Amino acid sequence: MSSALNVVPTDGALGAQIADIDLTQPLLPDQVGQVRTALLDYGVVFFRNQRISEPDQVRFTSYFGQPVEHVRKQRERPVPEIFIISNVKENGKPIGALGHGEVSFHSDLSYLRQPGTLSVLYAVEIPQEGGQTQWCNCTAAYADLDSDIKERIKDLRAVHRHYVEEQNPPEMIDHPVVRTHPETGRKSLYVGPHLTKHIVGMKSEESVELLALLYAHLEQPRFIWTHEWQVGDLVLWDNRPTMHRRLPFPAHQRRLMKRTQIFNDEIPF
Ligand code: OGA
Ligand code: MN
Repeated sequence: MSSALNVVPTDGALGAQIADIDLTQPLLPDQVGQVRTALLDYGVVFFRNQRISEPDQVRFTSYFGQPVEHVRKQRERPVPEIFIISNVKENGKPIGALGHGEVSFHSDLSYLRQPGTLSVLYAVEIPQEGGQTQWCNCTAAYADLDSDIKERIKDLRAVHRHYVEEQNPPEMIDHPVVRTHPETGRKSLYVGPHLTKHIVGMKSEESVELLALLYAHLEQPRFIWTHEWQVGDLVLWDNRPTMHRRLPFPAHQRRLMKRTQIFNDEIPF
């Protein structure tokens, strides 16, 4: 019996659905290899109609690296590797992160020296309107830059910092503006409005102007794919060649996602 997975690319800038697979069951090594290949090819892969437990999600995540507790502490939970993204409040306190507003384009944890590589989100409750997540194909966006801009940015670095000051490591973290994927060798733009602060060694106005130009370039619809969430969707993405943003949704509607995170010791280059 063939274990070939059914990989269906989206008609957008990136992403593929992997159909006909039940993530409550362990994956075969060969299937893990196919998911990994699809992730390298499409940047984002998603699975629909899942009904997984928290340990199932941690097991799935562990096929691709070491799942770790999120750097942002949440209250004690039975499965510590699961981080809650939610606007839901219990006893007046949010049970998770990110609220209901827009979260602009970012690559996860880029304010760390060794940022997150892969991330997983599993949809438990979704709002009736809004709350979509959009991914940007930063490899395609880089490839499409004019050669004079490529030349201008090729050796630049940018400071990344979380807006919640305590989140940050004590030292300022900077990363290359153009990063190379360690597995595919492809170059991607690695700046985004949510976490990138300024270009190292550049005058403020010039840095603001250059970043605005790069963001406007990245945010063109042709580089972006929108995920319309359904309950039971599990999305796995590679933060190295992609950025993502979350669209706002009405505060009184509930959105509850479970998140796992893989780090490794990669420093962007
Ligand atoms: C994240 C994130 C967006 C969303 O979990 O890293 O950016 O759509 N989430 O919840
Ligand atoms: Mn994120």
